[in-house]
Amino acid sequence: MFQPKTTIEPFRVKVVEPLPVRTRVQRAKALADANLNLFSVPAKEVTIDLMTDSGTSAMSQEQWAAIFRGDESYAGASSYFRFRDVVRQLTGMHHVIPVHQGRAAERILFSVVGGEGKTIPANTHFDTTRANVEASGAVAVDLVIEEGRSPSAEHPFKGNLDVVALKKLLEQHAASVPMVVVTITNNSGGGQPVSLENMRQVREACDLFDIPLFLDCARFAENSWFIRERESGQEKRSPKDIAEEMFRLADGAWMSAKKDAFGNIGGFLALKDDALAEQCRNILILTEGFPTYGGLAGRDLEALAVGLEEVLAEDYLEYRIRSTHYVWCKLDEAGVPLLRPAGGHAVYLDAREFLPHVPPSQLPGQTISAALFLEGGVRACEIGTVMFGSTQDDGTQSPGPMDLVRLAIPRRVYTQSHMDYVIEVVRYVFDHRKKLGGLLIQNEPPALRHFTCGFEPIGWDPFAALD
Ligand code: F0G
Repeated sequence: MFQPKTTIEPFRVKVVEPLPVRTRVQRAKALADANLNLFSVPAKEVTIDLMTDSGTSAMSQEQWAAIFRGDESYAGASSYFRFRDVVRQLTGMHHVIPVHQGRAAERILFSVVGGEGKTIPANTHFDTTRANVEASGAVAVDLVIEEGRSPSAEHPFKGNLDVVALKKLLEQHAASVPMVVVTITNNSGGGQPVSLENMRQVREACDLFDIPLFLDCARFAENSWFIRERESGQEKRSPKDIAEEMFRLADGAWMSAKKDAFGNIGGFLALKDDALAEQCRNILILTEGFPTYGGLAGRDLEALAVGLEEVLAEDYLEYRIRSTHYVWCKLDEAGVPLLRPAGGHAVYLDAREFLPHVPPSQLPGQTISAALFLEGGVRACEIGTVMFGSTQDDGTQSPGPMDLVRLAIPRRVYTQSHMDYVIEVVRYVFDHRKKLGGLLIQNEPPALRHFTCGFEPIGWDPFAALD
């Protein structure tokens, strides 16, 4: 029987969007106007946009059809009940609170359970999670396993939480820990999955101290697929079955539905605890909207309800993880230093190895991101010292845990030839890496500096031709 070697996209294209094609001169101007910060570059200057997989998915015909069924009633819209039932079925959690995106759920949750003197451990907090924990006055602690801190270490579940370290923390400080968070997949740690076994152990540790476990589940379906592929005994289970088990280990979850729900906007907070749900709903009404729309339109809730079910389709998940792996393998073969192994939603370049002559304090990830855009119109995102480091009193940079450049792949958007082009651009920049230098931060805001700061080169011309 014919056994195809090629994993094809499990969809065909019905609507097309022109791709911006610009010259290097046009990009140089856009980059200079943006002070070398890719967040300030207009999207019309970007040919392949890999800045994020968030809110950038292509919706399916079923999602677009559902949009027409959107019920825009202020209270009790039928779209809410459809959304609620899908989330209840998936998570097993009774209270489903819609929000406009993940960080709204984080702000609501941590303004209730956070605060001065509290500690929130996680495998790794995403940047908005950390910022919301800290904004409440609490301390965010990252306890990812040792392998998860090293880009080159090989481990099938580099997103796992270090259970020994967690127990130690809980033995000393349980009274000040309102919850433990597991981020699936671990975005800031390279899109790496967390095993079911690890989640069960974290659950046991939480039970010992009577502390709730929460999932930050933006990429829960990709995590489920990795469990099926990599965890022994799980290979015959459906991703849906695995996802349902993961959620049933937790007491609460929040999701940025802009990722694994194929939404262009949206999110939710799902909770078991009645009292906590009531407190969260009260804040929701104050800042987001009535509890049956939470800042979303009825049509958004419809699209998310469909997306949450579609994302668990096996042909989709196989294509999704394989296509990310394809880019990873081609870059690895070319000797480009990468975070290992391939993640689910993104390929991460290891900027410290890519530019060994640029110290972390001089922001090598930002330099690479600027060069990928200038040379090929590919927009990536620095996840390193700019995002997670800080400026010391003497003006020098204290580095983040790793310096990565994330090539995040939007869902169902780009084809294999787009990815072949990206591979060429990365290889070109890598082959000319000796011409690149370091950067300094300018105009730093008090929080989440990577979104708005500027950069200036340290003694080199970032716009000079590389060959
Ligand atoms: N948690 C995780 C793991 C995330 O990746 C994100 C967003 C959020 C929470 C916040 O959700 O953006 O809907 O408010 N990640 C995006 C990214 C921005 O590019 O990785 P949001």
